[in-house]
Amino acid sequence: MLKERKLGKSGISVYPIGIGLWAIGGKTWGPTSDRESLDTISRALDLGVTFFDTADIYGDGHSEELLGRAMQGRRDKFIVGTKIGWIGFDGEENASAYTSPEKIIVGVEDNLKRLHTDYIDILQWHVNFQDPTTENFIIGCERLKKQGKIRGYGVSTSDIDYLRSFVSTGGPDTLQIDYSILNRTAEKEIFPFCRDENLGVIVRGGLAMGILTGKFNPETTFPEGDFRRSWIENPDQKEQFLEDLRVVDKLKDAFPSQNLAELAIRFIISNPAVSVIIPGAKRVSQLESNFHAGDAGLLTDQEMDAINHIVAPGKGRKIWPA
Ligand SMILES: NC(=O)c1ccc[n+]([C@@H]2O[C@H](COP(=O)([O-])OP(=O)(O)OC[C@H]3O[C@@H](n4cnc5c(N)ncnc54)[C@H](OP(=O)(O)O)[C@@H]3O)[C@@H](O)[C@H]2O)c1
Repeated sequence: MLKERKLGKSGISVYPIGIGLWAIGGKTWGPTSDRESLDTISRALDLGVTFFDTADIYGDGHSEELLGRAMQGRRDKFIVGTKIGWIGFDGEENASAYTSPEKIIVGVEDNLKRLHTDYIDILQWHVNFQDPTTENFIIGCERLKKQGKIRGYGVSTSDIDYLRSFVSTGGPDTLQIDYSILNRTAEKEIFPFCRDENLGVIVRGGLAMGILTGKFNPETTFPEGDFRRSWIENPDQKEQFLEDLRVVDKLKDAFPSQNLAELAIRFIISNPAVSVIIPGAKRVSQLESNFHAGDAGLLTDQEMDAINHIVAPGKGRKIWPA
């Protein structure tokens, strides 16, 4: 087993391999089964996962509701990271619906209801750029902390200027960011900044939405209701997908006897800036494979050198625009 790591100054420690629960919401990543999703959460807990990442908007609340069902009678075993911000977002004004700290507090009451709990461990602001309502989130969080409804809070972004301004009050505890072998851009400025500011780093995208598991090829298709269909249907995205697959082929050549998903996860947890990776898993088998990546320990210097030759430190591409 790996050692637990701190989530910044929140006072919370987590096992470095967690789980992301967007896909189990059931509306964006193709078909799912609630029974299988609940089994996956329970199996994660049995194995030793402590950090569970969800959001108000995943499956229009269904992901939070499933986690709430899974937590019944054992809430204390879970460290819950959830998010708020995109529901009701006004695209024309580029502003969230949370136009006052009071509205944040009302919104969090809804997160709590769906999660069937009376506290959230880490509440994350999902809006990844400065918008007119950002400050309301911070003021609301400080009040929620005093009320015991959240233990800590943070933001999801890969914009260094926004991150700087977000943490300038000294209150936030965590950053959630896309980071993987394909996207090492956070290594340049963001990770050193997080270290200096004592921010816990929650990594998403570690498997690059499945690409880094090595299971896709140029003929891969995606089912109805899976947003990854645009990788095939949109010519620009298809070109990018094929480019990513060429990098994956280089990894396969360099690591012929390794499970690529395991390598991708070990790469993340080998970076000391990282507190926890949250690979998305829809099934028990995926969860078990992701969790057991930790059994092989951190990357050796030789393994890291081989990766550096394929994607140099600080390089790669931003996979999500934010
Ligand atoms: N803050 C934000 O804005 C934001 C954005 C994105 C994600 N997230 C969070 O991050 C979590 C992870 O999402 P992600 O984008 O980072 O995805 P990811 O973890 O890079 O990839 C997840 C997908 O890869 C496939 N997969 C997972 N484990 C696998 C395994 N062992 N073998 C083969 N395939 C496997 C599954 O899809 P298939 O089986 O369908 O291929 C799964 O849905 C989300 O659940 C969410 O909690 C947050």
